[in-house]
Amino acid sequence: MVPVLCIDGPSGSGKGTLAQRLSEILGFHLLDSGALYRVVGYAALDSGIDWQNSVAVTQIARSLDVEFMPSQQGVRVIYRDVDVTDRVRSVLGGEGASAVAAIPSVREALLDRQRELARAPGLVADGRDMGTVVFPQAPLKVFLEASALARAQRRQSQLQQQGEDVSLPRLLEAIEARDNRDRTRSVSPLVPAEDAVIVDSTDMAVDAVLERVMSLVTARGIVRSVD
Ligand code: DC
Repeated sequence: MVPVLCIDGPSGSGKGTLAQRLSEILGFHLLDSGALYRVVGYAALDSGIDWQNSVAVTQIARSLDVEFMPSQQGVRVIYRDVDVTDRVRSVLGGEGASAVAAIPSVREALLDRQRELARAPGLVADGRDMGTVVFPQAPLKVFLEASALARAQRRQSQLQQQGEDVSLPRLLEAIEARDNRDRTRSVSPLVPAEDAVIVDSTDMAVDAVLERVMSLVTARGIVRSVD
């Protein structure tokens, strides 16, 4: 079976960077499942469809014309041949993603698309329900935590790099509201899988988190050793 490494956790916990570094080191494919939900939200907005319109949004999710292109600045998101990376990664993009992600039929519509990516030599899957729903048989599931304040600060510097200036209190409020919605929704709530390893990255540098996860990868025999 193709090995899948699940990296789940709330937004701003450092999952994206960790998943990207792991996929580079291991030469594994990368699934940024949040980007899929972000594109669905963006596509609805672009077509004038309300995020609460579950029938129309599910239709969009089923026929989503999206491509993910690796680049030096991370994965670019191409929707209908247009690069929408900055738009989907904006604060509004996150709100749309969280709204459409709460619709059960949208999650269902995206399942096969996510599972198809489990191809040799392996996959690093970043999201909220990778270990609980999408890849329950995965040999390693990491649940990455960090305090809400640390996550808001990381998000602020990420947005600043994209030229978007958002105040820390506003980001903290948005993160807490989104966490609450993601953790309490009835379908695929944000919870660690029973067999997940919980890593709290609040006071850890990216390299330290990477080292910890790589030690789990080798300890479980997922890869023999990495140079
Ligand atoms: O990881 P992210 O910030 O790009 O995710 C955006 C939103 O999508 C977030 O509010 C939760 C949702 N999401 C989800 O419900 N399930 C996933 N596997 C990934 C993201």
